Amino acid sequence: MGDSSSRSLEAILLVGGQGTRLRPLTMSIPKPLLPTAGVPLLEHQLARAAAAGVRHVVFATAYRAEMFAESFGDGDRLGLEITYVTEDVPLGTGGAIRNASAALRSGPDDPVFILNGDIISGHDMTAQIAAHEKADAVVTLHLTTVEDPRRYGSVLTEADGRVKAFIEKSPTPITDQVNAGCYIFRRGVIDEIPAGRPVSVEYELFPKFLAESVPIIGHVDPAYWLDVGTPAAFVQCCCDLTLGRVRSPALPVQGVPALIGEGAVIAPDAQVAGGSTIGGGVLVASGAVVDGSVVMDGAEIAEEAKVSRSVVGRGARIGPGVVVEDAIVGDEAVVEAGNELRGGVRIWPRSVISDTSIRFSSDM
Ligand code: GTP
Repeated sequence: MGDSSSRSLEAILLVGGQGTRLRPLTMSIPKPLLPTAGVPLLEHQLARAAAAGVRHVVFATAYRAEMFAESFGDGDRLGLEITYVTEDVPLGTGGAIRNASAALRSGPDDPVFILNGDIISGHDMTAQIAAHEKADAVVTLHLTTVEDPRRYGSVLTEADGRVKAFIEKSPTPITDQVNAGCYIFRRGVIDEIPAGRPVSVEYELFPKFLAESVPIIGHVDPAYWLDVGTPAAFVQCCCDLTLGRVRSPALPVQGVPALIGEGAVIAPDAQVAGGSTIGGGVLVASGAVVDGSVVMDGAEIAEEAKVSRSVVGRGARIGPGVVVEDAIVGDEAVVEAGNELRGGVRIWPRSVISDTSIRFSSDM
């Protein structure tokens, strides 16, 4: 198929979800705009799409739609042209694709990428297009393989890649192939999605296509893949980007133990490692440890505090000796000395956790 970057492909990007599982981080900013290794989560995927020959991206927005245009404007900075289409009421994944299709320019047989805004993937998008065209498919799904498929719906394929069945979550899955959330749709089939009502790609469209024998291909590429849906996945995503476990053309520096923002002050005897991101103007005081964590702009980590596998929000303050492990501390919250936050605890923005000697933990 030649040099993909010389092509002029289109994509629809789904970014209208509320990101409820990532609250309180997503209370002030949509999930796809959360900072990851210093840039919005979405930017990694947009840079990869641009490198694969995508030139025009239609953002299907709903929740906090205006913030996307503030971040990405007309897309010029990324070598893309971005059009924004907003749903008055969220239409679900399929309804959003149908709604956004009004802004596409592709012809009926052209391939259009459908991207989920909360996925980090190292898969080869050019190879996915090649597989789509070789099979003359109507829909081509990127499938990845996972260690524990019980947590996901899985996708069974024939030897030639044709999708045989979409299988609900099961304690005894018969395949480790799962839907990785990056699709290629023939443009004409997008126009056939019912308009003006909520439609789910996964629960309505794909089963309907199978029932009607529409050729759907599963393209297996087991490269790095992460669905950034939960707090633990968000922290992992940030650390993996910093450590260089997944390559992102949006980042000038990868493969380092930590990224330190402008104006951050780290005491000489503090430790910052494990792929942590330290935002601009952050203070990490003497004897403090920040390991595999995200500390957002303007936060303070006091002396001897220990922050592991956690997120500390913008302007939050972690008191002396405090332990924060597998937890989220919302923007501008204050955790005073004497506290330990562990095991999935989430502190809402601007809360003050005083020295109550309570050990916050959800895993006891
Ligand atoms: P949770 O609320 O935590 O489940 O997150 P989410 O809202 O992002 O939902 P989910 O992870 O299932 O969404 C997958 C992708 O589709 C994300 O990129 C969402 O932004 C997007 N999405 C989900 N529902 C809609 C919708 O109704 N409209 C649009 N435009 N996008 C949607």
